[in-house]
Amino acid sequence: MATTAKATSKTTQARRTRRTGRRDPLAISLLKKDHREVAGWFDEYEQLEGDAEKQALFNKIALALKVHTQIEEEIFYPEERGDIEDDMLDEAYVEHDGAKKLIAEIEGMKPSEQYYDAKVKVLGEYITHHVKEEEQPGGLFAQAKKGDEDLDAMGERLKARKEELMAELGGKKPN
Ligand SMILES: [Fe+2]
Ligand SMILES: [Fe+2]
Repeated sequence: MATTAKATSKTTQARRTRRTGRRDPLAISLLKKDHREVAGWFDEYEQLEGDAEKQALFNKIALALKVHTQIEEEIFYPEERGDIEDDMLDEAYVEHDGAKKLIAEIEGMKPSEQYYDAKVKVLGEYITHHVKEEEQPGGLFAQAKKGDEDLDAMGERLKARKEELMAELGGKKPN
């Protein structure tokens, strides 16, 4: 029965969490959730044919990436300086800058233009690479989790700042 299956899987989940230590702290789970969301949108983009749909989805991707990189740069990265290797953190900032430049280029184009789709695709690949750097074993998130910061409390601040920025950057209509 469904209820039994559900209860069983919950028990299994609890056991697994206990065995592996603990669940991700809020800061990490929020940032990972953003990563999954935007990866899904990049996949979705591949299926689109119409320019208007492409434009609308790209705008959603661009807003999400701007807000995500900004909360990482304002809160997560600086507060983790010391817990995460300097080189790794520096590279993350440089990767954000590269992504922002590509986003700005795409924003200056129309979906009908040559290389628009290619640029969106390359941006997606670039983000996949960056996300791997953050999430892989020994990566930024793993190092952060070993550090001293209270990542649950930081998660609350990330969440609040994200809401502010979504309203601020998302409320503004381009053109
Ligand atoms: Fe991230
Ligand atoms: Fe990042």
